[in-house]
Amino acid sequence: MPEGLENLHVAIIMDGNGRWAKKRGMPRVLGHKAGGKTLKNIITYAAENYLKALSIFAFSAENWLRPKEEVSFLMDLLDEYIINEWSSITDNNIKFLVSGNVNLIPEKTRNSLLKLIDDTKNNTGLMLNMALSYSGQEEILECVKKIAHKVNSGELSVDDISKETIIEHLYNKELPEIDLLIRTSGEQRISNFMLWRLSYAELYFTDVLWPDFTSDEFNKAIIEYNKRVRRFGKTDEQIKS
Ligand code: FPP
Repeated sequence: MPEGLENLHVAIIMDGNGRWAKKRGMPRVLGHKAGGKTLKNIITYAAENYLKALSIFAFSAENWLRPKEEVSFLMDLLDEYIINEWSSITDNNIKFLVSGNVNLIPEKTRNSLLKLIDDTKNNTGLMLNMALSYSGQEEILECVKKIAHKVNSGELSVDDISKETIIEHLYNKELPEIDLLIRTSGEQRISNFMLWRLSYAELYFTDVLWPDFTSDEFNKAIIEYNKRVRRFGKTDEQIKS
């Protein structure tokens, strides 16, 4: 594994499950099943290699519009994932977090998600942020509403609103800015993922479909990231000095 992962927040848009299945003449849902296995491997790899945070786009707010059978398959997969991976998550010192509108997740699954969040809240290893029923615009909208309520009630003055105030009201305020966004399957879009925290992220796109994404592919993305010069708006000379 390349060096310097301890402080990195990597986000992944796990795309291409449907196409992976179609190529094999299989139903789309089997692509998701294969994608679930890939996810498990990548999480273990990230935890073992001391990545600071991993945000994964597991289900978008827009994904509710997919065919009913596909949505219900994905919810069952999520349920299965939590049950099967519970001990691996706790044993690996992973802090499990969820971003998104969890109220829309079926109650039984929601309760296990909340229990896993609670059981791992003191863990100090990888922060695993699972985006579920998630929309980046909704996250910002909710944040604005919460801040507006505080202003309304006199708890906060408009002039005191800062970037920190916004971060304080996003999902999981402890998550740092994203350093690297990986998207599989050849699509080159952000798709409403973690808009605030992606501000200065390096973007890495690969044609590999998510079920085929291995730890070697993950390493390739990190090696590419390590070659990038992150200027944050400054000049090359300022960065070097
Ligand atoms: C995008 O592929 C993938 C998703 C919408 C779901 C991601 C889910 C997993 C990786 C499985 C693990 C999930 C959980 C909930 C633990 P796509 O279906 O859009 O692929 P396509 O663009 O080829 O059709």
